[in-house]
Amino acid sequence: MDKIKIKGGANLFGSINIPGSKNAALPVMVSSLLSKENLNLHNLPKLQDMNSMISLLRSFGVSVNQNNHTLTLNSQNLKNSTASYDLVRKMRASILVLGPLLSRFREAKISLPGGCAIGTRPIDIHLDGLSKLGVDFEIDNGFVKGRVKGKLTGTTITLTFPSVGATENIMMAAAQADGISIINNAAQEPEIIDLAVCLNKMGAKISGAGSNSIKIVGVNDFYQADHSIMTDRIVAGTYTIAAVMLNKEFTVKNINSNHLNSLIETLKSMGANLKIDESSITILPSNKIYGTNIETAPYPGFPTDLQAQVMALMSLAEGTSQITEKIFENRFMHVSELNRLGANIKIKNDTAYIEGGRKFKGAQVMASDLRASVSLVLAALCAEGETQVNRVYHLDRGYEKIEETLGKCGPSIIREK
Ligand code: EPZ
Repeated sequence: MDKIKIKGGANLFGSINIPGSKNAALPVMVSSLLSKENLNLHNLPKLQDMNSMISLLRSFGVSVNQNNHTLTLNSQNLKNSTASYDLVRKMRASILVLGPLLSRFREAKISLPGGCAIGTRPIDIHLDGLSKLGVDFEIDNGFVKGRVKGKLTGTTITLTFPSVGATENIMMAAAQADGISIINNAAQEPEIIDLAVCLNKMGAKISGAGSNSIKIVGVNDFYQADHSIMTDRIVAGTYTIAAVMLNKEFTVKNINSNHLNSLIETLKSMGANLKIDESSITILPSNKIYGTNIETAPYPGFPTDLQAQVMALMSLAEGTSQITEKIFENRFMHVSELNRLGANIKIKNDTAYIEGGRKFKGAQVMASDLRASVSLVLAALCAEGETQVNRVYHLDRGYEKIEETLGKCGPSIIREK
């Protein structure tokens, strides 16, 4: 397994162009299952999760041609609607194929995704919503099997929690159902808007994406479409936090800064010196960074995917901070590793208590989930001495060749097989 070695006391200069969003790209790629025409996607990130999704789609018979950051997908000759455990266990987002396959095939068999490092990750909200569209489900020997007689039928669905994946699954299934569907208490993440924009380019009739109520008027056919994926707000937020931690002038480019309002407000309240444009954030050195208290929440609240990163910053800030994680039940895997690097963080139930004014010292640490891994990289950049981060495959799932991306802006990060 690859590991990376990071020299502490890193310099950071210049700017970085943010790539396409993993969490927008995955559902948009899945939407190709609904169409018999080409779907051309642009500005895709080059990540392990994309390769996993390409393998999964190909296993159904989707033809996928990749040319750098562009994909052409065609689902004219689908041959099966079963997703194997081996493919699904690598990436939870595989469950997103359930709705489109049921819409197209009237039946689907997907290995249950199982839990992951940050929680049990149930799919009850997905299944409940799809059942309301007319799907009969049974779960046995680790698979969820769905079947629908005739076409899916539009209806009103109220989610018990604004689940991102469930909103996407149901929206895709309803796109070609008979009649009108309304999703109430829908997730409002920007990635939902990106998916709706792409589906509408393919011929869907979706309105209200980005609000908590989405209306989908079922249509019969989809057409050839081109779509360029939005940029990755979590990667943008990660590198913004890195620059604040290193207290260096740095610019994060090619973003939609409106997607980062909660992080921007939090960093400013901590004393960060930020210059915000529509498509970039420039971090300037600040006199002092102070601790604060945050609670993660569904968009537009503070994103759970930036919780681990801001925790590393809080360890350096003056004064204590608190983070309450309200989205996932076990998303503090990075705490013990940050403590190995010199942080002093205690957990009580869903809240982490972070002592400020700490100094990170290089050590060997273990990556766990995708965002926990990058919080260790941020801490390592500020540490005294060298840090070795093991199991960086977690990192590769969400950050394109981080050693090259950051390496071009000053830090010394070396990957070893
Ligand atoms: C998406 O996951 C993202 N992944 C996650 O990013 C992100 O952390 C999460 O949304 C929240 O913003 C992708 O978009 C591929 P949820 P998703 O359904 O859809 C519970 C990353 O780092 N829940 O909104 O799985 C669930 O257990 C990843 O890029 C149910 O109980 O998130 C969790 O506690 C990590 N039943 C909460 O809701 C369900 O049927 C939020 O989950 C579905 C979810």
